[in-house]
Amino acid sequence: MADFRKEIEKRRTFAIISHPDAGKTTLTEKFLLYGGAINLAGSVKGKATARHAVSDWMEIEKERGISVTSSVLQFNYGGYCINILDTPGHQDFSEDTYRTLMAADSAVMVIDGSKGVEAQTRKLFKVCVMRHIPIFTFINKMDRDANDTFDLLDEIEKELGIATCPVNWPIGSGKNFKGVYDRNTKKVMLFSDTLKGTKEGEEKDFDINDPALTTEIGQEYRDKLDEEIELLDGASAEFDMDLVSRGELSPVFFGSALTNFGVETFLKHFLSMTTSPLPRNSDKGLIDPFGSDFSAFVFKIQANMNKNHRDRIAFMRICSGKFEAGMEVKHIQGGKAIRLSQPQQLMAQERKIIEEAYAGDIIGVFDPGIFSIGDTLTTAKDNFEFEGIPTFAPEHFARVRQVDTMKRKQFVKGVMQIAQEGAIQIFQEYQGGMEEIIVGVVGVLQFDVLKYRLENEYNVEIRLEKLPYEHIRWIENKDIDMDKLTGTSDMKKIRDLKGNPLLLFVNAWSVGMTLDRNDGLVLSEFGKN
Ligand code: G4P
Repeated sequence: MADFRKEIEKRRTFAIISHPDAGKTTLTEKFLLYGGAINLAGSVKGKATARHAVSDWMEIEKERGISVTSSVLQFNYGGYCINILDTPGHQDFSEDTYRTLMAADSAVMVIDGSKGVEAQTRKLFKVCVMRHIPIFTFINKMDRDANDTFDLLDEIEKELGIATCPVNWPIGSGKNFKGVYDRNTKKVMLFSDTLKGTKEGEEKDFDINDPALTTEIGQEYRDKLDEEIELLDGASAEFDMDLVSRGELSPVFFGSALTNFGVETFLKHFLSMTTSPLPRNSDKGLIDPFGSDFSAFVFKIQANMNKNHRDRIAFMRICSGKFEAGMEVKHIQGGKAIRLSQPQQLMAQERKIIEEAYAGDIIGVFDPGIFSIGDTLTTAKDNFEFEGIPTFAPEHFARVRQVDTMKRKQFVKGVMQIAQEGAIQIFQEYQGGMEEIIVGVVGVLQFDVLKYRLENEYNVEIRLEKLPYEHIRWIENKDIDMDKLTGTSDMKKIRDLKGNPLLLFVNAWSVGMTLDRNDGLVLSEFGKN
């Protein structure tokens, strides 16, 4: 029993969010290096697969039989068992990227010091805020010319609406990057790029009052540092662990993932500030991760692109108890007992069969087509359901028609099934039927996936006509009279398959206008399932 508790206590499950190219992969590689999971940094994912074109992507899917985008990395470091959830970017960006965040207990936000807050970070950040999970900021690429440090923090606070508290402070950047000052220990760690890709390397620490520090960094940087520390102590938010836990204050670190500078310090602080798996909300109250019953929820379903392996993998986050291979669990939504066979864990793209797993871990199980996103599985006697996973706002829309109208049945079946897996969202004209449907996706690549899969799996050819809408809003008011609702000329009324009304807009300005014109109207960027 003591072991069981310890296993759960040592788990840390987090996602790394960033805009493409900020250094997420590089930082992950360096984390793994400390954990000894790989011998040399550089093998998390080949660049070739990370930056593939659409056509390559299909081939990769086919060859591997599983999406290259779905990885969870598990490794041990400093007595912790760490699960890193990858949030794919580039062309792979999809609703799954958002859903992955539902499985994390905290997030690391990587920002490129010369670029500041970028689009994808902004989007993913919103989901973290909705969940009130702690967000830790790593400002990367300090070995390159970075923006002014105060400006960077200001930008995070203004753009993302979260207070920041620098744990360390950079001295210069680019060619003049001298190191970082740790505000807790009052020590300066001098920058050296000899650590590149290796675990061991020389790190030189100087006490802030050591005269030798001035000799090392030069008078000019010394004076600037003193000035900035004074400013910082007066201006920045006080460190408050409660605010961090609620996701209202982000501890900020500076470093350079490529040269492996500041990475281990960051990892250590991060691990000590985050918690073991958190309780999860259900319709019967909070579910304690240390409870003896196994429970999990499905946050992602991965269809196999390989025709020879038509299976699907359901990824679930274990929320309580211990998982053992072959165990029988209740699938609440399906109302049946099922045996979880072939449980898998993904290690840097490799599938690995596992025997046991604990609360906090992510496992993938074979899905014969019975699971939906958000489903609950448990061994508890009393049934309960975990809080549903929201539907995230698609940003691309297309009208979909089948080329051969005789294949109506296959078309509807295929589209419905792909929507059930959560790869696309389907809508109808507000007054129309199923003869024409509107498909919404978070990442444009999903359109290609839809076309490819309908042709290959359902033998249905489709035509996609892209629509100009970029913003969708769910209507929170239950009693709204849709006929009386007045919007802008570019607004379109649609409904989902359950009949709920929604609004589409070409631009954000129209969303605001529509809110202004309809007193009491409440719109949401997240749909409830
Ligand atoms: P991503 O996963 O967030 O998309 O970013 P990734 O780690 O792939 O990094 C993007 C590029 O930025 C890579 O260069 C990487 O080497 C570089 N990079 C990451 N961290 C740092 C850093 O701290 N300092 C500097 N100077 N560069 C950094 P690339 O040329 O696109 O790829 P590669 O050919 O070097 O692998």
